[in-house]
Amino acid sequence: ADQISDDITEVLITEEQIQDKLAELAEQVARDYEGENLLLVGVLKGAVMVMADFARHLPLHIQMDWMAVSSYGTGTRSSGVVQIRKDLDTDLHGRHVLIVEDIIDSGLTLSWLLENFASRGAESIEVLALLRKPDAMKVEVDCRYVGFDIPNEFVIGYGLDYAEKYRNLRDVAVLAPHVYS
Ligand code: PRP
Ligand code: MN
Ligand code: MG
Repeated sequence: ADQISDDITEVLITEEQIQDKLAELAEQVARDYEGENLLLVGVLKGAVMVMADFARHLPLHIQMDWMAVSSYGTGTRSSGVVQIRKDLDTDLHGRHVLIVEDIIDSGLTLSWLLENFASRGAESIEVLALLRKPDAMKVEVDCRYVGFDIPNEFVIGYGLDYAEKYRNLRDVAVLAPHVYS
């Protein structure tokens, strides 16, 4: 269909709810990292919107870097095989790292990233994820900052894609089954 609205069954989290939550998480992060030199690592491409908005709620000096990994390809399910498409520019040795993610689904991407980052000698590594699906998690991921726990449905928008589409929707919405079945 021509319009994004034709392809969604419901809006799950509105733009306003997202911004309120990110502001709240930023307050927490600002308290926790006061006086530290914090590196935010956004996981491309899904985390672009979260990073852009969350970082602007933060009153701290931060640095930003990006890692591109992909495990989904064009389907609705994680393949479990994580590929690095773009590596960090920053040396993590001795750094306080906060990984910024749009969603923890099976947890496979993040558990792989956490292990990968730990081996680079970071001083601390924490995770911020806007969304988490408790009923879909296949591996336990320690996530310090979570925006919303959501049901196990395929969601799109606010950075989240299906086959590279819908990332530009301002809300988080449930993808209509007719799109992928
Ligand atoms: C999506 C999402 C997370 C990951 C979560 O990324 O943005 O990074 O999957 O799924 P998991 O917990 O089951 O691993 P994707 O691999 O689709 O790449 P993208 O960010 O470029 O869309
Ligand atoms: Mn992603
Ligand atoms: Mg994706």
